[in-house]
Amino acid sequence: MKLLNPLLLSIFSIISSASGAPTSVKRGNDQQGVVKVDFNVHRGSSVGTAQLGAQAKRNFKRNTDGTAAIVLENEQSFYMANMTIGSNHQMVGVLLDTGSSDLWVNGRDNIYCSKTSTTGDSTVSKLLETRDTTSIDCSLYGTFDTSMSTSYKSNGSDFAIYYADNTFAKGEWGHDDVTFGSVLVNDLSFAVADEATSEVGVLGIGLPGLETTKTQYENLPMKMRSAGLIHSSVYSIYLGSNAEKGTILFGGVDTSKYQGLLKTVPMVDVASNRIQVEMNDMTYNGMSFFNHQFYPALLDSGSTLSLFPQAVIDLIVSVIDLQYYEELASYIGSCSMIESSNFTFNFGGARIDVPMFNFFFEHMVVNDDGVSRTCVLNVGVSDNVTLGDSFLRGVYTVFDMEKYELSLATATFGDDTENIQPYVDSVPGAILMSKMTLVQICLMWLQGVYL
Ligand SMILES: *[C@@H]1O[C@H](CO)[C@@H](O)[C@H](O)[C@H]1NC(C)=O
Ligand SMILES: *[C@@H]1O[C@H](CO)[C@@H](O)[C@H](O)[C@H]1NC(C)=O
Ligand SMILES: *[C@@H]1O[C@H](CO)[C@@H](O)[C@H](O)[C@H]1NC(C)=O
Ligand SMILES: *[C@@H]1O[C@H](CO)[C@@H](O)[C@H](O)[C@H]1NC(C)=O
Repeated sequence: MKLLNPLLLSIFSIISSASGAPTSVKRGNDQQGVVKVDFNVHRGSSVGTAQLGAQAKRNFKRNTDGTAAIVLENEQSFYMANMTIGSNHQMVGVLLDTGSSDLWVNGRDNIYCSKTSTTGDSTVSKLLETRDTTSIDCSLYGTFDTSMSTSYKSNGSDFAIYYADNTFAKGEWGHDDVTFGSVLVNDLSFAVADEATSEVGVLGIGLPGLETTKTQYENLPMKMRSAGLIHSSVYSIYLGSNAEKGTILFGGVDTSKYQGLLKTVPMVDVASNRIQVEMNDMTYNGMSFFNHQFYPALLDSGSTLSLFPQAVIDLIVSVIDLQYYEELASYIGSCSMIESSNFTFNFGGARIDVPMFNFFFEHMVVNDDGVSRTCVLNVGVSDNVTLGDSFLRGVYTVFDMEKYELSLATATFGDDTENIQPYVDSVPGAILMSKMTLVQICLMWLQGVYL
């Protein structure tokens, strides 16, 4: 997430729809050993203004001096889920974040929560209001009132987290019973912020090495595991067809949501605590954009766009024959070609097709012949590859936080049928790319399995 490095921004949020007392929490049709949590995808420039279903765009603006500027809109994505905390089931929203590892929520007494909504017209309050630039609207995602939960216990330790965008959260560590989806997690460690400059708390489910505490403790995936709710610290992320909703399955895989086999590759540079894999190529119709280079690719749900080195973008432009369009200061191409093609990503031999259109947006051009549709390349530039929401929404991704592996497959968007399988000691139905022998590869190729 916005922790330490803005590129790590990868957030999700939890607000709560759960009702009913913990004792009456229903397991529903949930598969044993799997915890399902739904989330909404909000996009925007900040959590406070992000909206459900917004689209990331590069907008062209002409400066007063005549120069052109590209303005990114809705460049961040936020995966927002719901949870309830405490004996009286207080609904709190948090951002689901694979780039940090602690859970914290806004306390009811967060001093930055808007003091403006109830103030009258007095000059003094107006003055305070204008000076208080960091005042936030805590009603957006809810706050947690520790005094109302009889099961809440503070443990007396201080909590503090600072983000690269200068926001921060400070408070105390404590523990209480928390409900996610239809599942109750007893006695979960989390922090309650009494000073935080973000409207919404964060549910960090990243690598344990990113916990802010001196010694490691059981964060949510680990706690679910030790409580026997799941078999391993593993979760799968899937976004629905319109990319406005998604599901995270702790401890399992929904094998009905992807095509072919899940392909497992190791995370690289785990010491950095970022979720990265080695990316060996990216192609269209067998033509490479990587030119024999390879790059570490950061998987970042908090970035709406995907980012590529300039050399890769130059090859995309020439290989798929995009034209520079001055009006938008961007590259454009034929929508009919783009909508019917894939980019193929190659991670150590695991090939994943992603619809090419995910990396474009549609734009209407007015010219002498009337109005025509064009598709505008919508990627960012960075020395390293970042695979953001535009990639993730085309892919079924399994994060194995114990074996430091990712399993990937092209996502499919069919009906609501589910086939949820628990992870017992390996990702159900996945093949480990590095362990595959040449013989196996040949056999699979003969059987027509496309890797
Ligand atoms: C969370 O709760 C809010 C408010 O009830 C609701 O609008 C939203 O759809 C819920 N989100 C999810 C992912 O269920
Ligand atoms: C309080 O909880 C945090 C997180 O679990 C832990 O790191 C810290 O050591 C705990 N403090 C005490 C005094 O037990
Ligand atoms: C794109 O990839 C998907 C998944 O592999 C495949 O089903 C589809 O046929 C591909 N489309 C094209 C045009 O190659
Ligand atoms: C690119 O990746 C390398 C290796 O992981 C890292 O050292 C470097 O800081 C990254 N650069 C940027 C701009 O993130």
